[in-house]
Amino acid sequence: MKTSAAVLAVEGLKESLEGAAGDGTTVERDCQLAEMTTLRAGGRADYFAEPNTEAGLSALLAVCRERDLPVTVLGRGSNFLPLDSGVHGLTVRLSRESFACIEPDGSLLRCGAGAKMKNVAVEAKRCRLARAEFLEGIPGSIGGGLRMNAGAMGSELFDVVETVRFMDPEGAVFEMSAELIEHQYRSCPLLKNQIALGAVLKGEPDTAEAIAARMAEFAQRRWDNQPKAPSAGCIFKNPETIPAGKLVDEIGLKGAIEGGAMVSEEHGNFIVNKGGATAGDILRLIERIRERALIERGIELESEVQIIGRKESHD
Ligand code: EPU
Repeated sequence: MKTSAAVLAVEGLKESLEGAAGDGTTVERDCQLAEMTTLRAGGRADYFAEPNTEAGLSALLAVCRERDLPVTVLGRGSNFLPLDSGVHGLTVRLSRESFACIEPDGSLLRCGAGAKMKNVAVEAKRCRLARAEFLEGIPGSIGGGLRMNAGAMGSELFDVVETVRFMDPEGAVFEMSAELIEHQYRSCPLLKNQIALGAVLKGEPDTAEAIAARMAEFAQRRWDNQPKAPSAGCIFKNPETIPAGKLVDEIGLKGAIEGGAMVSEEHGNFIVNKGGATAGDILRLIERIRERALIERGIELESEVQIIGRKESHD
């Protein structure tokens, strides 16, 4: 039986959250999340808010702690699949102005978690700072990028991060040198439980022409190899022995379909929404690929996409 998000409404919670935030933040009940994901799929959040300030965010966390409600942080939804059965508790998105700044300071760029990585690349180019060109083609926010240690074109976000600002589950704010923060390929364990608030990135002075040329080359490579239909970028992390896209290609699953979801014909590590895909369709396709990769090649594919929500009723 499907659990309706509305059924789980908590008495007076919307008002408590809004009152506690105290900064004009509004809270929406039973909020559709699909449109906030690049896959354009998935269920609803019991409660959703875009806090206006760090103090407001901290206050929202306090209310959720008191009421024992989980908090989910959504970036630009480019690596995020909310299950059809919905996301319990409060979902927050750090998209308001105070979280989305990009401020140049010499060879540094101070970026809020809500800043789009693409805009950071463009601002770095405007300031004639190299090393951020690869961010141009990653459709996420700095916050999501930090959490995932997002990467493309042979670089990853932590290559250019000097410091990270984050909030712990108690609502306290910290700023830490990136050198002290463990990070690996597509992973930053610290930010699984802490909320990224922003980062200082460091560029290297270069000419506008050289930076523009690299950005154009990266964009071209992406246009040539990656699908344009709605997707969450690569679905799986690359195993050590073979790129996941090549593996999916070799085991013949390009073009495989579940409902409205299809393995891209252009790149085997992308699942695209052909129209009307549910999170269940996408999950079934992910499972099919994982099963075949394991049976045929003995390889355990690990999903790169954050699958969030009530697990009991997604199929
Ligand atoms: N390949 C195939 N068939 C396919 C897809 C790829 O044979 O259907 C082969 C390619 O020919 C190439 C190799 O597999 O020899 C690797 O493919 P590609 O160059 O496209 O890179 P990738 O490893 O699949 C990674 C990142 C992408 C990033 C690109 C470009 C991962 C999981 N993926 O893809 O990141 O954009 O490099 O730098 O690390 C993402 O993480 O969401 C993402 C899109």
